[in-house]
Amino acid sequence: MVYLKGKHILTGKQFTREEIEHVLQVAENFKEELKSRPSLDLTRGQILATLFFEPSTRTRLSFESAMLRLGGSVIGFAEASTSSTAKGESLEDTILTVCQYADVIAMRHPQIGSAERAARVATVPILNGGDGAGQHPTQALLDMLTIKTEKGTIDGLTVALVGDLKNGRTVHALVELLKHYRVNLIFVAPEELKMPLEITESLKSHGVPVKETESLPSALKESDVIYMTRVQKERFQDPQEYEKLKDAFILTRSLVDQAKPGLTIMHPLPRVTEIATDVDSYPGAAYFRQVKNGLYVRMALIALVLGKV
Ligand code: NCD
Repeated sequence: MVYLKGKHILTGKQFTREEIEHVLQVAENFKEELKSRPSLDLTRGQILATLFFEPSTRTRLSFESAMLRLGGSVIGFAEASTSSTAKGESLEDTILTVCQYADVIAMRHPQIGSAERAARVATVPILNGGDGAGQHPTQALLDMLTIKTEKGTIDGLTVALVGDLKNGRTVHALVELLKHYRVNLIFVAPEELKMPLEITESLKSHGVPVKETESLPSALKESDVIYMTRVQKERFQDPQEYEKLKDAFILTRSLVDQAKPGLTIMHPLPRVTEIATDVDSYPGAAYFRQVKNGLYVRMALIALVLGKV
């Protein structure tokens, strides 16, 4: 029995396969319902607060759009500098305050573990929209919906994750969901940006076949799905180190043309240089469809934690 009412969504690790499938099913149902009308009447009178202490375009706007299309309302801030954080208020006090106004909170914060900290004091569900280089579970769920929609299945696929696997919270969360499926994983990163050892080890001990390489062309030859990521500039202490690594992997149209036929290309966005814009017209370039799936998945998560579905 899947029961997410009142729950916090903090990490990819918290999900069972049954829960993942339930979220995707609810998201698919909302996608279907939105074909015949622009919005629903499920959360009327309820309020989502979006607290974004770090830049965001898609995550915040899709959460807000999701609540509005469910029939609810939205409050929040998109910049910590306009909130009392700028006066020295703690995250805990901000959360305790916002819980007096809102029925559910979506937040993003630069510190790893911040969503857990918020959840410890919160009296309403916390939806983690990214905690530093930690986790980004709602993105991972929309990534799973994208793989399922594009490929018709998740089991049996070879998925390559490319780029900044050290600092990328989207990939940290995504592998925690993929591990429940029969997938082969290929991690493509320069030595400096490799997937943290504890994550790779835990996947292997879970029985997930993981291959690590620095060669994007070789990964492209065997992958069904390639998940490109941005080198996370904001996590670098040394700007020169970022300059050295920022263009580590660039997916060009000619590389795509040499890939395994039927390749699906994903990216959580924003992209900087990792995918050349002439790749956008390739039929398997799914990153803007992926964006749309974020709306459906976040509608599902809000409705589920509020106990509306
Ligand atoms: C990602 C993030 O914020 O972690 N963006 C997103 O939510 N779609 C990826 C990134 O910033 O590189």
